[in-house]
Amino acid sequence: QVKRTGLLSPDRILNVGHRGASGYAPEHTIPAYELAKDMKADYIELDLQMTKDGHLICMHDETLDRTTNGTGYVKEHTLAEIKQLDAGSWFNEAYPQYANPEYKGLKVPTLEEVLDHFGHSVNYYIETKSPETYPGMEEKLLETLKRHHLIGPNAKPGQVIIQSFSPDSLKKVHHLDPGIPLVQLLWYEQPAQITDRELSEIHTYAIGVGPNFNKIDRAYVQKVRQHGLLIHPYTVNEKADMKRLIDWGVTGMFTNFPDRLHEVLKER
Ligand code: G3P
Ligand code: CA
Repeated sequence: QVKRTGLLSPDRILNVGHRGASGYAPEHTIPAYELAKDMKADYIELDLQMTKDGHLICMHDETLDRTTNGTGYVKEHTLAEIKQLDAGSWFNEAYPQYANPEYKGLKVPTLEEVLDHFGHSVNYYIETKSPETYPGMEEKLLETLKRHHLIGPNAKPGQVIIQSFSPDSLKKVHHLDPGIPLVQLLWYEQPAQITDRELSEIHTYAIGVGPNFNKIDRAYVQKVRQHGLLIHPYTVNEKADMKRLIDWGVTGMFTNFPDRLHEVLKER
């Protein structure tokens, strides 16, 4: 039921700004997403967590420690508490070469705020993180997207892609709305192998897979493509890796440096 046109065409190579242009600005902040858009990313990538009082926020980790001046689990803090935190200063300390005084004091954005801010001007590649920890997260996500007219019969194909490492979370979304394109994330510690059976199973609910890029090879990419699935490896930051993956036939990739991928794609 998912229309495989436009952004979802297998002929496209999608540039996904991973946590925004997170190589240059603090991940999951409005400036990082703005920068990804300016750098011509096709998508901004959002990781979702849920607060104690049930708000979806954009954050990669289950805890506040790494990317804010707070500590502890997101699920044990209210949105009001999380809004007190500084989500930018850590970046200036960790990456002095890209530090910017304007990053100091940036707030953790809610999903709602990001959708209000960007509306239909960007495409969203949204990950349900730790869905087993946050019952009801999928319903809340779809309700929010619907309210912003980003999903539904009149939405642009590919305006939103939902991704997860959890097959259960994706199947739940698929059950709620089979029209939403889904991508099954995969993590390999060893050289990646995938069976026809696994690919056929994924194909029952998803339009593609997202493996870590550093364990796949040409045969893996081609096998996925032969099954009619898209393949968007993560997280690819060096131009040489981008070029190799494109040569193998990937249909997009996640990068912290969307400007680099844009250049690579332009040079082809
Ligand atoms: O969503 C693709 C990639 O972001 C998965 O890894 O840990 O960066 O969310 P992670
Ligand atoms: Ca992610």
